[in-house]
Amino acid sequence: MNTPSLPSFDHQPRPYTGPSKEEVAAMRRAHVNPAIFTYYSKPLMIVEGRMQYLYDETGRRYLDGFGGIVTVSVGHCHPKVVAAANLQNETIQHTTTIYLNPNIAEYARDLAARMPGDLKVCYFTNSGSEANDLAILMARLHTGNFDMVALRNGYHGGSMQTMGLTSHHTWKFNVPHSFGVHHALFPDRYRGPYGYDDRDAGAKYGDDVGSLIEYATPGRIAAFIAESVQGVGGAVVFPDGYLERAYGHARPARCASPTRFRPGSAAWAATIGGLRPRASCRTSSPWPRASAMGCHSPRWSPPRRSRNPWQAESTSTPSAAIRCAARKAARCCK
Ligand SMILES: Cc1ncc(COP(=O)(O)O)c(C=O)c1O
Repeated sequence: MNTPSLPSFDHQPRPYTGPSKEEVAAMRRAHVNPAIFTYYSKPLMIVEGRMQYLYDETGRRYLDGFGGIVTVSVGHCHPKVVAAANLQNETIQHTTTIYLNPNIAEYARDLAARMPGDLKVCYFTNSGSEANDLAILMARLHTGNFDMVALRNGYHGGSMQTMGLTSHHTWKFNVPHSFGVHHALFPDRYRGPYGYDDRDAGAKYGDDVGSLIEYATPGRIAAFIAESVQGVGGAVVFPDGYLERAYGHARPARCASPTRFRPGSAAWAATIGGLRPRASCRTSSPWPRASAMGCHSPRWSPPRRSRNPWQAESTSTPSAAIRCAARKAARCCK
């Protein structure tokens, strides 16, 4: 097959001396869980990356058109990122949050500076699912309500709780997982019942949230959760006015707005519709993956003592469950 040749690039990949592709495939088959699969009958083996390019074990160069779903959005082995990671590795590799270290504070400050409104307090978690799990817990503790409203065609993760929020049969297992979750209509201008040209579609879909709260819950919910732009469901942008209407029904519950896409340079998709969600779970930060984060307003602090009628007395705060994954690298990506 004739493929166009890549432009010249000033990087010489290291000679590869590891196990062969066949040996790697055999090791994976024997020891890595079968849920991890490869594409293509003869999958590529990637052993090196530099900026927009990847190299296989023979030194052949490929243009990376995938980027690990935004995980390497500043390119592979960006010199600034590598330098910051190396410096940190040579300086100190681990402390605990019970002692002070400037990194977590500076990283949180820099991230908060990019968040809209008064979303200024960060929680660092290891994944988007964990961030959403935490958001659910906090919303339930704070409101004393249990029910959640999510959207059909939404994706919120694969943990037991977030699988319940997720609304794609392809990402659900046949186990009980949606207790307390209600899925509102999928506000899709193209395929939804109200049609692309219906100017009131946003309000009509939004009213389904109100209807669910009224008829499927005790009339009070812990949170309404929606991706600002649905990602896994196919980059779905909601009709005008949808989120305003839905938020109007959901309050005084907490509205969480997980953000995967980042339309515009300074704006987070969480601000779409001119709204200020109470919490925003960002599932894929510029780098690194480990910095999935949640943000909330300093004025919104979870209660020290649970007010939940369905939960035993508890004196622990949700923050006890939080793992810090701060990285100084945020500064490299400016
Ligand atoms: C909107 C959204 N929320 C949550 C998640 C789950 O993130 P993770 O895979 O890091 O658990 C994803 C992942 O694709 C996502 O797109």
